[in-house]
Amino acid sequence: MERLQKRIASVGYCSRRKAEELITKGLVEVNGEVVTKLGTTVKPGDVISVEGNILDNSKAYEYYLLNKPKGYVTTTSDEKGRNTVIDLIETDSRIYPVGRLDYDTTGALILTNDGELANLLMNPKSEVDKKYIVKVKGMVTISDIQKLRKGVLIDGLLTKRAKVKLKSIDKKKETSIVEITIHEGKNHQVKKMFESLGYKVVKLRREEYAFLNLKGLMPGEYRELSIKEVKILYSLCKKNR
Ligand code: URA
Repeated sequence: MERLQKRIASVGYCSRRKAEELITKGLVEVNGEVVTKLGTTVKPGDVISVEGNILDNSKAYEYYLLNKPKGYVTTTSDEKGRNTVIDLIETDSRIYPVGRLDYDTTGALILTNDGELANLLMNPKSEVDKKYIVKVKGMVTISDIQKLRKGVLIDGLLTKRAKVKLKSIDKKKETSIVEITIHEGKNHQVKKMFESLGYKVVKLRREEYAFLNLKGLMPGEYRELSIKEVKILYSLCKKNR
């Protein structure tokens, strides 16, 4: 949530003071209704018009979907001087990653400067699905797939139900590929789930974050989310509460 006058100023329409003046004069509408109260807050998807001009909402916040490559940390800075995912996005805004992916994990990662959406997405109550493709050392058994589905103990806690599919087994190399969809986000969760059954994860890619997939994005590439996609993310989080 953001104050209306701040939003009007942040998209470059006018100064915050001028925006306050326009609001009190009754020249600002939010979702078709005149708003004259200065404390009014607005959400990213709200349609705001000022003196009859609809503001380009997309400039208020920035939302990116990155295909995270290996060798990047998902923090805004790193005390060891390693590359951070922020270095990959061309923007002057103070964006940050939504949740974590390990240094050696690749795949779908949202970055934004919209704190409300970031908090909603990271809140376990929102139950946002994350689909991973996992390569493990060893030949995963059907009974272990069942265990992963029902929940395994990691750090003394049982993981929530997961969707798990055994995709393939390479008998010569003794490796397996498994697709797993979880909606929790514990630290190193996928690796720990497999480790709890004796399998070492050798490769991990997040294939989907909610409905967002990596289509058209090579590792290191990113795209902006559309307003429609942002609205769907908001509604997904709210629906599950
Ligand atoms: N689970 C992990 O173990 N690592 C990740 O990077 C993401 C999920």
